[in-house]
Amino acid sequence: MKTLQHFFDRNREWANSITEKDPGFFTRLAAQQKPEYLWIGCSDSRVPATQIVDLPPGEIFVHRNIANLVVHSDLNCLSVIHFAVEVLKVKHIIVCGHYGCGGVHAAMEDTDHGLIDNWLCHVKDVRRLNADMLDGLADNEKIDLLCELNVREQVNNVCSTTVVQKAWAHGQELSVHGWIYNIENGLLKDLGTADS
Ligand code: CO
Repeated sequence: MKTLQHFFDRNREWANSITEKDPGFFTRLAAQQKPEYLWIGCSDSRVPATQIVDLPPGEIFVHRNIANLVVHSDLNCLSVIHFAVEVLKVKHIIVCGHYGCGGVHAAMEDTDHGLIDNWLCHVKDVRRLNADMLDGLADNEKIDLLCELNVREQVNNVCSTTVVQKAWAHGQELSVHGWIYNIENGLLKDLGTADS
């Protein structure tokens, strides 16, 4: 049986190193989580939420899916936003896309990728809505721009959820940010922020 023992070894070393530096770390976290940030990002293994902003466990509530989509009827994503805003009272929601996104790339192609094409229809919608900006660009520029436009569209989708609209109507402090991450140099770029 394959048990991935090396993961358990690494985990023990990691937990020990944190406890050595801060003996109360896990006890404090076990008592409660109080993150101020909700991160909605891509499932891509190269874009791990807490690592790229160098934060420890407990700081960011995370939802990830292919191409960092916020679909109006996605109960999974909506439940995460609901819990983050109404229970955790996060002050910031970050939609973080990334250049070189495989999901965005696949949505630019007119080939059959199977089941995932149903999910990527939402990126194809962004492509269609912005055809005037995208047409005429070289392929790599087109994908980079669609990665950015997709983030902007998902920020709009977050803002139009009943959860965020209700929070803003009640004067709750909440900002929605659109960011994009460059997997070639590890750097983030701010694409803009929406407030109430
Ligand atoms: Co991606």
